[in-house]
Amino acid sequence: MADFDYDVLVIGAGPGGYVAAIRAAQLGLKTACAESRETLGGTCLNVGCIPSKAMLHASEFYEAAASGEMNKMGVKVQPELDLDAMQAQRLETVKGLTGGIEYLFKKNKVDWLKGRASFVDAHTVEVAGKQVKAKNVVIATGSSVTPLPGVTIDNDGGVVVDSTGALELASVPKKMVVIGGGVIGLELGSVWRRLGSEVTVVEFLDQLLPGMDGEVRKEAGKLFKKQGMALKLSTKVTGVAVNGKSATVTVEPSAGGAAETLEADVVLVSIGRRPNVDGLALDKIGIAVNGRGQIETDHDFATKVPGVWAIGDVIPGPMLAHKAEDEGIAVAENIAGLTGIVNHDVIPGVVYTFPEIAGVGLTEEAAKEKGAIKVGKFPMMANSRAKTNHEPDGFVKVIADAATDKVLGVWCIASVAGTMIAQAAQAMEFGATSEDIAYTCHAHPTHSEAIKEAAMAVKGKPIHI
Ligand code: FAD
Ligand code: NAI
Repeated sequence: MADFDYDVLVIGAGPGGYVAAIRAAQLGLKTACAESRETLGGTCLNVGCIPSKAMLHASEFYEAAASGEMNKMGVKVQPELDLDAMQAQRLETVKGLTGGIEYLFKKNKVDWLKGRASFVDAHTVEVAGKQVKAKNVVIATGSSVTPLPGVTIDNDGGVVVDSTGALELASVPKKMVVIGGGVIGLELGSVWRRLGSEVTVVEFLDQLLPGMDGEVRKEAGKLFKKQGMALKLSTKVTGVAVNGKSATVTVEPSAGGAAETLEADVVLVSIGRRPNVDGLALDKIGIAVNGRGQIETDHDFATKVPGVWAIGDVIPGPMLAHKAEDEGIAVAENIAGLTGIVNHDVIPGVVYTFPEIAGVGLTEEAAKEKGAIKVGKFPMMANSRAKTNHEPDGFVKVIADAATDKVLGVWCIASVAGTMIAQAAQAMEFGATSEDIAYTCHAHPTHSEAIKEAAMAVKGKPIHI
């Protein structure tokens, strides 16, 4: 340690970085974490996972009351929206959780270096004008919104916004156009639709949610339409003109054709995110990013420069908080000389709409390309708990290898799909067959029984359909 201030310096305090820092400190390494934001927790806690779920949860209550859903269950209410209060509870939640990371840093003796970090050399990083030397540096700088060429995002103006601006709107837009029918567009589009906006989603491809199972994508499209979202699939945006407090969005078919215009009070740009590497001075340490702007690493999360590691959204793989967190634990363990592993074949993904949409492993399309498969399906309509709760939409699909019966992928659309998918991920991590799931006793009445019945359908028949 003689020449170093720290064993480990982590750049970025998002779910990748703060978890890596805490685990490194737990393993006895002297650790610091540089963060340029005012608060810890990164995109996820400040402007991502947590505030979006705060708004999704609150708006779900509002819609259940406003749509008459609660009245149907004998709870008579006439709701009144207090958007300021809804926003205040979002901010309160964020404050609590980001403050919690500050507490964990103190508890684990992780030094928080406040400021933007940039490399001087592979073991020297400048933070707020001060040089810090570390034996190991972990790059965990995350990602930011991908801009749409020709479209200026102005969150303060509140007309053309990214996800951060869309979380903070001061009033419910009458009309909202969402550019990009991916995870952010559907989650935040759902929030404002539930609160009263007319939402139109413009998606370049012929289905929503690229990367998910084909049947799930189709069903998701049907459900969002049924909820009142207008979907313009196979459509591209060619221009956005801001006229004071509103905007005109020009769109045309992705394959070319006649243009049309859409009027909006708010336009949300959600066409993906790109890694944060600007200002890191990676050139000084000889790291070049790949064609997608990502830093490449090996399975241990080591870059090609000894002592420099990278994790989370800034490296290849799904841009998900839990993927970043697991990589944070693994990189710290690898630095400490232990064996840190992340199984990138089993990373669940969840869209927190209503119903939730979740998957883990291969899609049916990808599994078919690899060999013969068997698929079992079960509709939520036939699940007693979903039916009791008036949540009939969705299904579960279990995809297994035809020869070995090993589970290759599980997909769910269900009110609590995000919770259900954990058991599928665990089963796959343990190398389970569909029979293993089918013969596991599931508590009744639970939504998870639909996973058991879909697994039963792989080789035989479920009971309840
Ligand atoms: P980040 O969380 O992006 O953290 C990186 C941090 O590094 C930032 O705080 C940044 O300020 C800091 N930083 C960058 N450069 C420097 C520098 N040079 N010096 C110092 N600090 C620096 N994922 C889920 O799994 N579930 C969800 O429900 C979910 N919801 C989301 C909702 C929205 C609206 C958005 C935008 C994202 C959501 N995500 C969700 C994605 C999730 O937020 C990211 O995958 C996750 O935050 C990535 O973690 P990270 O640690 O790699 O980076
Ligand atoms: P995304 O990649 O999920 O979706 C972007 C969508 O925009 C795609 O459907 C794409 O085809 C479409 N698109 C791209 N260019 C377009 C154009 N010019 N016109 C119209 N459509 C266009 O990206 P999104 O929604 O911005 O989210 C970014 C990341 O954040 C995702 O990778 C996701 O992993 C993460 N995230 C995760 C959440 C979760 O886990 N629940 C919630 C929110 C974000």
